[in-house]
Amino acid sequence: MKQFLSAHDVQNIPAIIQDALTYKSAPWKDENLGKHKKLGCLFMNPSMRTRLSTQIAAQQLGMETVVFNVGNEGWALEFADGAIMNGTTVEHVKDAAPIMGNYFDLLAVRTFPGLKDREADYSEHIMHQFIKYAGIPVISLESATLHPLQSLTDLITINETIQTTGFKRKPKIVLSWAPHVKPLPQCVANSFSQWVNAWGVADFVITHPEGYALEKKFTEGATIVHQQEEALKDADFVYIKNWSSYEQYGTMPAYEGEWMLTNKKLALTNQAKVMHCLPVRRNVELSDEILDGPNSLVTKQATNRVWAAQAVIASMLKS
Ligand code: CP
Repeated sequence: MKQFLSAHDVQNIPAIIQDALTYKSAPWKDENLGKHKKLGCLFMNPSMRTRLSTQIAAQQLGMETVVFNVGNEGWALEFADGAIMNGTTVEHVKDAAPIMGNYFDLLAVRTFPGLKDREADYSEHIMHQFIKYAGIPVISLESATLHPLQSLTDLITINETIQTTGFKRKPKIVLSWAPHVKPLPQCVANSFSQWVNAWGVADFVITHPEGYALEKKFTEGATIVHQQEEALKDADFVYIKNWSSYEQYGTMPAYEGEWMLTNKKLALTNQAKVMHCLPVRRNVELSDEILDGPNSLVTKQATNRVWAAQAVIASMLKS
């Protein structure tokens, strides 16, 4: 694998899930694969799980990792071609990224959408500038529109749960919109949809209020339902996530009804396991009773971030 930006960079999704689960049972089996190699991790916004799990994964492959919080520790970067830099930006990515390309063997980058200009965010200009100018393989630690390491983790967690519970039939997976106090990116929802569709082993339903449709290229293949309770019927996995509007870009259109998942709603499902990428706003996005209850997979999901990252980094080191 030469880069890891989306599901389309993975040739065989079941195989990479299996690689991750193999690392879970034998974390140090490739401890020399990355010996004398360096991973640079650039963060342009905060992170807990991605930052820690990626470092642990690289360490278990024998790599050295350097983490750089570009957003608040580095010089303010400029990304516009031909910019006259007489404002607040101090250094152009054209100048900074090639240096990083010389310091590191792999570059992992977390960017973030501005949620003001849909065309700019969905062009993934910032991530593509790093790819263009660093000249080394790039791993997305979350971009303006996608969060592939999170989605691979989500599939690993679903696969593992199916295997351990002796599940025989096609699972029903529901992605449900949830309320939030501020507009959030569509990344996790776009990415989860893209990966579940590419995996192709489940009946996939997305439920959200009117005005919160995701971009079609990510959701094609899924059934879209605006009544959450109808969508939840017989679900085996319910993935809860807030996202802001794609249509009225970056806004939070008014909606009707209660969208936070509760035990009462969970009773409509097939004793579904509940997922969320974290961080989660308790009793806004998800109720305490769900998060602290037996159906929650959120801690397992976050723990599996290590094995997803390890499988991806290993695949890039091998190629
Ligand atoms: N889920 C996730 O990406 O968490 P962090 O923002 O803490 O990395």
